[in-house]
Amino acid sequence: MPKVLIVYWSKYGNTKQVAEAIAKGINETKKAEVVVKNVKDTKPEEVLNYDALIIGSPNHGGGPVGEIKNFLKKLEKINLKEKSAAVFDTHARDDIKTVQKMEKQIREKLPGLKLVAPGLAAQVKGLLKGPLVEGELAKAEEFGKNISQKI
Ligand SMILES: Cc1cc2nc3c(=O)[nH]c(=O)nc-3n(C[C@H](O)[C@H](O)[C@H](O)COP(=O)(O)O)c2cc1C
Repeated sequence: MPKVLIVYWSKYGNTKQVAEAIAKGINETKKAEVVVKNVKDTKPEEVLNYDALIIGSPNHGGGPVGEIKNFLKKLEKINLKEKSAAVFDTHARDDIKTVQKMEKQIREKLPGLKLVAPGLAAQVKGLLKGPLVEGELAKAEEFGKNISQKI
């Protein structure tokens, strides 16, 4: 069975919740194994042990947090070959900006990662802490199911 690594960073817990909902969706298909990890506990080389990487960040100032950008940057030094990838964000108001930036970084700098689905942008209520808007976790589960069909 293919193995999927979901890496996230989260300040208030919403991005973690989205990561876990994506994992739930993947698990329900029984087509892939999935591990969810905080980026701070993840070494870039660990990606080599998986067939797919799903990476997520909150929108801070219109883009991903430094920890996620740096993790992707460090992957440039690793010889990743033909792995599937997808991204997700949480945001208060800026829609898909963060998703687009992570996708751009992957397309331009990480040729070994192939984006297999359009990124998921999940909205939180209010300006900072959330909670997530109703329905966003269900969308995240669907996103996970969809990706597990594509790897
Ligand atoms: C320092 C900071 C900057 C932020 N900047 C933006 C922003 O530019 N656009 C936006 O839509 N949300 C912005 N937000 C809201 C975050 O996207 C929101 O707090 C996040 O989705 C919550 O995820 P978390 O619970 O995983 O930390 C910002 C939040 C923080 C703490």
